[in-house]
Amino acid sequence: MKLFYSPASPFARIVRAAAIELGLADRLELELTDVAPGKPNRPYAETANPLRKIPALEVQSGLTLYDSSVICEYLDSLAGGGGLYPKDAAKRWRVLTNFSLTKGMCDAAVSMRYEVAVRPEPQRWSVWVEDQWDRVEGGLKWFEQNPAQQEGAINIAHLGLASLLGYIDFRWGDRPWRPKYPHLAKWFDRVEQRPSLSTTRPAVPK
Ligand code: BEZ
Repeated sequence: MKLFYSPASPFARIVRAAAIELGLADRLELELTDVAPGKPNRPYAETANPLRKIPALEVQSGLTLYDSSVICEYLDSLAGGGGLYPKDAAKRWRVLTNFSLTKGMCDAAVSMRYEVAVRPEPQRWSVWVEDQWDRVEGGLKWFEQNPAQQEGAINIAHLGLASLLGYIDFRWGDRPWRPKYPHLAKWFDRVEQRPSLSTTRPAVPK
């Protein structure tokens, strides 16, 4: 299976980490894919994802899955089900909602990055950047106040949260979050030791 990805993308990291947790990493062939705004990657849009977003997973000729939620559920089912998504209904809805929150936080953090790294300086809007950061902080605050959500067997929301925190350190190192969210910081230091996360730390594409 071919995974279209960037080593900088927190969404692609979630999928790579999920594949490792599920014992499927050796089934993934990684294909570096550039989807920066302003440089439309037409071949990718036409053959993989019309939205030009990563990750996407080509599972067979003519079937490419996206986005990260769909890919992770596919991998989980391929591994037998229930690996990263609890089967118990109450736990499942909680985990799915937590995962959704982490992906929204990733969206906000990536949008901030594009605003400062891609948009021409005179057109940047600092109010909008700070509004995105405020959304990220809303999620950080929620997870800090609900530490029980970080307990138990590793699940897909844990991978989402760890990928978001890694992305903040990678692109937003000038926004120190650890002093304000000490429980989260302690959890992240521990969870990032897992091979699925220690081997997928974000990096600038070569
Ligand atoms: C980044 O360079 O920050 C990035 C690249 C691809 C997807 C998301 C973020």
